[in-house]
Amino acid sequence: MAFEHVDYKSLDVPAAPFSDPSIIPDFPKDKVPRHVGVIMDGNGRWAKQRGLIRTDGHQAAEPVVFDTIAAAIECGVRYLSLYTFSTENWKRSPQEVRFLMGFSRDIIHRRVAQMDKWGVRVRWAGRRPRLWKSVIDELEMAMERTKNNKVIDVVFCINYGGRAEIADACADIAREVRAGKIKGDRVTEKMIAEHLYNPDIPDCDLVIRTSGEQRTSNFLAWQAAYAEYDFVPELFPDYGREAFWRSIDHYIHRDRRFGGVKK
Ligand code: IPE
Ligand code: IPE
Ligand code: MG
Repeated sequence: MAFEHVDYKSLDVPAAPFSDPSIIPDFPKDKVPRHVGVIMDGNGRWAKQRGLIRTDGHQAAEPVVFDTIAAAIECGVRYLSLYTFSTENWKRSPQEVRFLMGFSRDIIHRRVAQMDKWGVRVRWAGRRPRLWKSVIDELEMAMERTKNNKVIDVVFCINYGGRAEIADACADIAREVRAGKIKGDRVTEKMIAEHLYNPDIPDCDLVIRTSGEQRTSNFLAWQAAYAEYDFVPELFPDYGREAFWRSIDHYIHRDRRFGGVKK
């Protein structure tokens, strides 16, 4: 099989996501995390280090987002959640917020054909109120276009907060109780899980955070309750495929016990 040289650092749409197979680590299929979340942090610091403005750092992140998606596909990750804009990020300057909204919308628009070709099913997790309608419209078009793809589900977490998601689930449950659809006053974990934004997506196995910060910043509060964490030093624009595979390798060597005792 011939492999085209693909320059993932360029903004051009690569023809295929696949690396030369000799460089893809041969992880045991049953050990690869099913659902990986990435807190894509450090764009502002990356720009500052170069005397650039913060939004240049966000722009430099775009090819890395797609390198990360390709890396996940190549090693068999089935769900990838990308923390793109948090419910707390509205605190930033109006200029930066405006840039992040417009940029997210444009990326989805420009890259949907590429994602479709790669077999990506585009998903969204987040709150509607406050989010730009044009962002929601682009997400909805991309979700519709890619709904039958089965290689990987890529969840763009935009206007997403873990606590907001749990509060929204509780509000839905309360409405269903009032409408008589749920009887009694027992709220179970299963019931909350079924009312999350994307209830079909399994719990998160591994959360990666770039930029050296060691906190979760309200990402996947429910789904990552038992996740492994890998905090890596690279600023997100310096991250990429090989670094992603290193995180998968770290995960594979962790001992997940879920409160039990390994024999
Ligand atoms: C992550 O990079 C991107 C978003 C939160 C949208 P930052 O913008 O947080 O960059 P730093 O953390 O300030 O370097
Ligand atoms: C988390 O990064 C949110 C995203 C990556 C979208 P932040 O930069 O917003 O988080 P804090 O402020 O360091 O907690
Ligand atoms: Mg940050």
